[in-house]
Amino acid sequence: MIRICVFDAFGTLFDVDAAARASGVADEIWPALAAEWRRKQLEYSWLRTVAGAHVDFWQVTQDALDWALEAQGLQQLGLRDRLLTLYLQLAPFPEVPGVLQALRAEGMRLAILSNGSQQMLDQAVQAAGLGDMFEAVLSVDQVSAFKPARAVYDLVGAQFGTSPQEVLFISSNGWDICSGAAYGFRTLWLNRAGLPLDRLHGQPEAETRDLADLLTTLEGL
Ligand code: LAC
Repeated sequence: MIRICVFDAFGTLFDVDAAARASGVADEIWPALAAEWRRKQLEYSWLRTVAGAHVDFWQVTQDALDWALEAQGLQQLGLRDRLLTLYLQLAPFPEVPGVLQALRAEGMRLAILSNGSQQMLDQAVQAAGLGDMFEAVLSVDQVSAFKPARAVYDLVGAQFGTSPQEVLFISSNGWDICSGAAYGFRTLWLNRAGLPLDRLHGQPEAETRDLADLLTTLEGL
């Protein structure tokens, strides 16, 4: 029986492209900037965990942005600061507040489990007006490693006393959902971008394109 829904944050609840989109960078350039920023952010998180050289996700996010700005030849004064400020208040995807509200109305317990630093997550949740939705906002800061390290997924059981089979983990990131499934969570892959399934050591139990389908998906699990 599913006792709690645990959400990944960036890309799942919060639109990681929103900062570059709203930054004033030209329409021909911002999508590549956003994609390279995100790709480097994830790569740096994995590499730092593999190397045992942890820094928090805010540092990783800044390092990745610096790489992406240089790669795109973007050096406008104030742009870096503007992008980082926007990243701390990323908009949620449009359906997110309503779906969370509906889950709460059904008595479902909700939490976040994210690579984000505690401060980034708390600011994003507050800026999106979602402060009352979650029983816990769990950051990898507690274990100084990034997903998919098992120590991160362990934070859910440590916080709620649940077994992995009592947790529905929801992530838009293919690598995260495969890893969560291999860990033993029930899993819903929110495949927003319509990407192929990752060839990894676990496979998601269910897949949807839109979080609004979560309520019906839950009935079938
Ligand atoms: C997170 C990253 C994976 O929020 O987006 O954990």
